[in-house]
Amino acid sequence: MMPATQASSPTANDGSTVVLPMTKVLIPGSFDPLHLGHIDVVDQAVELFGDVVLGVLVNFEKPSGLFSPDQRVQLARASLSDRPTVTVQAFGGLAVQAAAEVDADFIVKGLRTPNDFDIEQQMAHMNHSVTGIRTVFLPCRSDLGFISSRFVREISANGEAIDHLVAAPVAAALADRFAGPSHE
Ligand code: PNS
Repeated sequence: MMPATQASSPTANDGSTVVLPMTKVLIPGSFDPLHLGHIDVVDQAVELFGDVVLGVLVNFEKPSGLFSPDQRVQLARASLSDRPTVTVQAFGGLAVQAAAEVDADFIVKGLRTPNDFDIEQQMAHMNHSVTGIRTVFLPCRSDLGFISSRFVREISANGEAIDHLVAAPVAAALADRFAGPSHE
């Protein structure tokens, strides 16, 4: 059987289309909530690989959050609903276990800063040592690299607009959550 191929394939120097096979990648994260920086990384991964599973996982350093894992999944699904090769699901346990469960070829992580690289490099090596899965780093778009879920939560909780930082379903959920007097 011929492998499935990507919808948007790159053009070679001679003008011909380079047909790349579909690859499945897992993008793990807390996504509390998903923001435009995350969506940029999803779009880069779709362009490069084809199939993307956005995995909502527990970061054991920040186990509880603003939205429940189920709510994060629903908000991410609503925000990414126009991307046919992207699926969203929640996982318990480790990122390597989630990657094995969905049969992902690689883990993909977005990098904003050198600090991101330090921790992500350690996790990539650790994950590779456990199951052999490789991690691919994608640089966040420069005009979106300042966005973080934590600051989106803080700014929204204190009544300022975050519509330029998140997709419409997330903006609506935050407005709903923080309707009324300041919450921080
Ligand atoms: O969005 P975050 O909080 O930076 O995402 C971090 C996350 C959830 C990807 C990371 O904490 C993770 O992989 N958690 C699952 C548990 C795990 O695999 N731990 C071992 C890491 S080497």
